[in-house]
Amino acid sequence: MPSRRAFLAAQGVLFATAAAPTGLLAALAANTPPMPRLDDWELVRALFRLDPAWLHFSGFYIASHPEPVRQAIEAFRVALDANPLLTVEHGMFGTDEQSLEGKVREAAAPYLGGRAEDIALTGSTTMGLALVYHGLQLQPGDEILTTVHDHVVHHEAIRLSAQRNGASVRKIRLFERSSDATVDGIVAAVRSGIGPKTRILGITWVQSSTGLRAPVRAIADAVAEINATRSEDQRVRIVLDGVHGFGSVDAAAAELGADYFCAGTHKWILGPRGTGLVWASAENWARLRPTIPSFSDLELYEAWKDGRPPRGPNNAARVTPGGFHAYEHHWALASAFELQRQLQRPRVAGRIAELNGRIKDGLAGIPGLTLHTPRDPALSAGICCFELKGKTPDQIVAGLLARKVLASSSPYAVSYARLSGGLMNTPDQVDQALAALREVAKG
Ligand SMILES: Cc1ncc(COP(=O)(O)O)c(C=O)c1O
Repeated sequence: MPSRRAFLAAQGVLFATAAAPTGLLAALAANTPPMPRLDDWELVRALFRLDPAWLHFSGFYIASHPEPVRQAIEAFRVALDANPLLTVEHGMFGTDEQSLEGKVREAAAPYLGGRAEDIALTGSTTMGLALVYHGLQLQPGDEILTTVHDHVVHHEAIRLSAQRNGASVRKIRLFERSSDATVDGIVAAVRSGIGPKTRILGITWVQSSTGLRAPVRAIADAVAEINATRSEDQRVRIVLDGVHGFGSVDAAAAELGADYFCAGTHKWILGPRGTGLVWASAENWARLRPTIPSFSDLELYEAWKDGRPPRGPNNAARVTPGGFHAYEHHWALASAFELQRQLQRPRVAGRIAELNGRIKDGLAGIPGLTLHTPRDPALSAGICCFELKGKTPDQIVAGLLARKVLASSSPYAVSYARLSGGLMNTPDQVDQALAALREVAKG
């Protein structure tokens, strides 16, 4: 909302202290050490301040900030504490050139393979899903189709929006057993699940319930075939919870074929805690209604001042929630995407596939253990879900905890134990975690 700047200038505020924020980015750059070397996984591991007393196999839960992100947060914090008014005026309401939200979008766009202006910034996956489902223009008679495999926040976003718009909700299974699911089987389940009233398909890229990575492209192709026979207002749009694929899979999120891609950036992307985004095409943004007032689109402010409705179609900026935020976290997200750019997506995904392949190979050899995540790397990513005969998931997690291994149990009606290998882990640590699990299995 750059015109706030003109408003403040008129009050003399900028005149009095204009020097402080000018060149904020230059000052930040000067106070931020250059990106460390990243060509060796040990150096990458050293970016995290994880407690070495533990083996951290739940990195997907919420990020430990890597060094460049910590430094960016600190640099913004110093600027905000020194001059909150002018730092926010400059970073949020300055020129397009100065916009720190703009810098975050520009850093995220090449990573997700879309346009910067099509990215809405949120605080989490949950917030993104809620903004999308509540913004969809559904009515009684429309159906939201989802699956039994998605996270509680996805189902709750659907339930809460359906309560308001009167749409019906139906859940289908994409497979009987995740461990031997196939692309063809999953696509067939989607095809037969979609009915004449289905308008929305809500799915998850990498399920935290099973570790299965859904073949989103193949699903989107099947939906596109169905849509080709339907009129514009009867078409099925895909809402994707992408959080556990974003940062762990070598794919451009905007090219997966989903209409609305929602993800937190505080898990695999390693961004600041309390950050996330939604990507959609301009046409799909135009179909959505904003829920939360935004600070990110000047036209909204101009329209409000002039007492008229905003001009032009809805867009990503208008869905970016306003209100003042923890800006040091929001703005530092650009540094996480810069880190990901330098690490390179194929290399990161390869390392995650290698570590989790090693976990799955080891799990498969433990007597009494049932692996629920597909072994096929094309149908899995960074989460490995399993059961041990005679033990509940929580007992397994407790047994590992007692051996200094941080695993988790999946928070679903049918719960499994989970181990997840991330950039903070080594193959040797995988072997240690597996050794600990073998002890738990015997005990
Ligand atoms: C599949 C899935 N979706 C959404 C979430 C919630 O993510 P966020 O904390 O970014 O809202 C989780 C939590 O880990 C999850 O596993």
